[in-house]
Amino acid sequence: MNIKKQIILDCDPGQDDAVAMALAMAATDEIEILGITAVAGNVPLNLTQRNARLMCDICQRTDMIVYAGAEKPMAHSLVTAEHVHGKSGLDGIDIVEPITPLQEKHGVDYIIETCLSAADNSITLVPTGPLTNIGLAIHQESNILPKIKEIVLMGGTLREGGNITPSAEFNIYVDPEAAQIVLRCGRPIVMMSLDVTHQVLTTRKRVDAIRNLDSTVGEPIASLIEFYERYDEEKYHLDGAPLHDPCTIAYLIKPDLFSLKEVNVEVETGGKFTRGATVVDYWDVTGRLPNVQWAHTVDANGFFELLNNYLSKI
Ligand code: RIB
Ligand code: CA
Repeated sequence: MNIKKQIILDCDPGQDDAVAMALAMAATDEIEILGITAVAGNVPLNLTQRNARLMCDICQRTDMIVYAGAEKPMAHSLVTAEHVHGKSGLDGIDIVEPITPLQEKHGVDYIIETCLSAADNSITLVPTGPLTNIGLAIHQESNILPKIKEIVLMGGTLREGGNITPSAEFNIYVDPEAAQIVLRCGRPIVMMSLDVTHQVLTTRKRVDAIRNLDSTVGEPIASLIEFYERYDEEKYHLDGAPLHDPCTIAYLIKPDLFSLKEVNVEVETGGKFTRGATVVDYWDVTGRLPNVQWAHTVDANGFFELLNNYLSKI
């Protein structure tokens, strides 16, 4: 019998984060969401926390506990991505004040306290935004490390190049110092980089299938994607945009959709042109110890089939 994965979802909604949230909330047999922490990223923290709560409303989970975490990266000023996600961060749907409450406690304190009170190897951290909250939690309280079973994150790039600079993916670029802390923490890490997320494109046929689901979230998720995909469609001249963040949750539900390679990954924190670049030792030329399972292929049709099957449960 599969034991439910106990996760803390750390996100910066963001339309693709929102889809990841919906998928996680639908997978009640496989995933227990202990809490959701918002981080500054796609849009400032006051909006990412509001958007996370709004997505809980849309998924009819106003019982979900949502925290606001860090409002800026560890060492840099915040870089946001309204050009992709819109001013609200969730352009594509009507933005209203959420019913789901915001918890008082700081998100980083929540992560620390939840991990410290958990059994060893029991907590799965799922960051889908800049790694500031996770990096701060590890930096402030290293005793949480034995409690972390796995970190399944969206971030990084090798073959696909950068999406915010020529060499860096957005989540890692925004807070490279936090990413370095996470990548060097010694706990099992699965990285869903652009190399794999660029294989799951929101084609017209796939978005129509989501809209036509017998699900309360089909219409809002299709509308969110239709706003979100326009930027990448124009940039990459493709039918559809990469659906980045839900890859983390799909991995938790059905890992064999993905193929992984154990590699060493370091982050450039000092480069003039290469801040946030993930230096992936794909062919083990440095002898540096592997610290990451790097996802490099995905069954894209299987991914969208899983997404539709689970969204239909809401
Ligand atoms: O580079 C893609 C990542 O940056 C996704 O997590 C997206 O939501 C943004 O946070
Ligand atoms: Ca995100």
